[in-house]
Amino acid sequence: MKKALFIVLIALVFATISTFSMVSAQKKAPEPMSLKIEGGKLPAVSFSHITHTEKTKIECITCHHKDKDPKNPEPCIQCHLIKEVKDNAPIAKEAYHKNCIDCHKESTAKGKAAPTKCNECHKKQQG
Ligand code: HEC
Ligand code: HEC
Ligand code: HEC
Ligand code: HEC
Repeated sequence: MKKALFIVLIALVFATISTFSMVSAQKKAPEPMSLKIEGGKLPAVSFSHITHTEKTKIECITCHHKDKDPKNPEPCIQCHLIKEVKDNAPIAKEAYHKNCIDCHKESTAKGKAAPTKCNECHKKQQG
């Protein structure tokens, strides 16, 4: 009886360790992220995963839409090039605008305000 309990405990310890090491093997996004397409002229856009995935329960795959593992995503720019359409993927600026602004317009229309004006996203840095 005691031996069985001991084995269960050891199994639990290993399960916990492997869960933690899986979590730490994931990429972690900086919070907030500062989004800027190389060579862009407007101020960088601040993006918070906490706002979008915790306060607002949006699934990873809604944005990381082509990743085999949306929890370990590739940067959008990997497929959405700055100047040319590749494999039907719109250029980066259009991909970002369609993703961010379309949802914000829908959300605002439904009564939950989200930024839709240029300078609400492309904010000049303070200080
Ligand atoms: C919901 C947020 C959002 C709104 C609103 C928005 N943008 Fe953007 N825009 C982005 C993101 C994100 C990027 C990609 C990161 C970057 O380079 O800023 C981007 C990129 C750009 C770029 C290419 C990069 C650069 O700096 O040259 C231009 C130009 C641009 N936006 C213009 C506009 C204009 C003009 C408006 C208003 C009509 C606007 N945006 C509204 C989020 C937004
Ligand atoms: C509303 C859109 C949106 C949602 C939802 C979202 N992300 Fe992201 N995430 C982004 C954007 C935009 C970037 C910046 C991508 C880039 O650099 O091109 C990003 C970047 C990341 C990165 C950094 C990737 C790198 O460049 O190394 C990780 C990790 C990440 N996201 C994980 C997640 C996870 C996990 C979830 C779900 C819990 C999630 N994201 C949900 C939009 C989103
Ligand atoms: C692995 C490649 C890849 C990555 C990474 C990727 N995309 Fe895409 N995306 C595509 C392709 C290819 C298309 C063309 C349409 C299709 O096949 O669905 C596309 C289409 C889109 C569209 C247009 C959808 C429509 O209905 O017109 C948006 C918006 C978009 N991507 C946003 C993003 C954002 C934002 C990111 C980063 C968070 C991202 N994508 C990351 C490959 C990618
Ligand atoms: C699928 C829907 C959806 C997508 C896609 C989305 N957002 Fe949002 N966003 C929201 C909602 C909803 C809110 C309001 C959240 C709240 O007030 O609790 C919001 C709020 C924000 C805010 C203001 C709050 C804050 O965290 O500062 C910013 C800035 C923002 N989003 C940037 C972006 C950018 C940049 C992108 C594209 C990379 C993006 N969002 C994509 C739904 C979305």
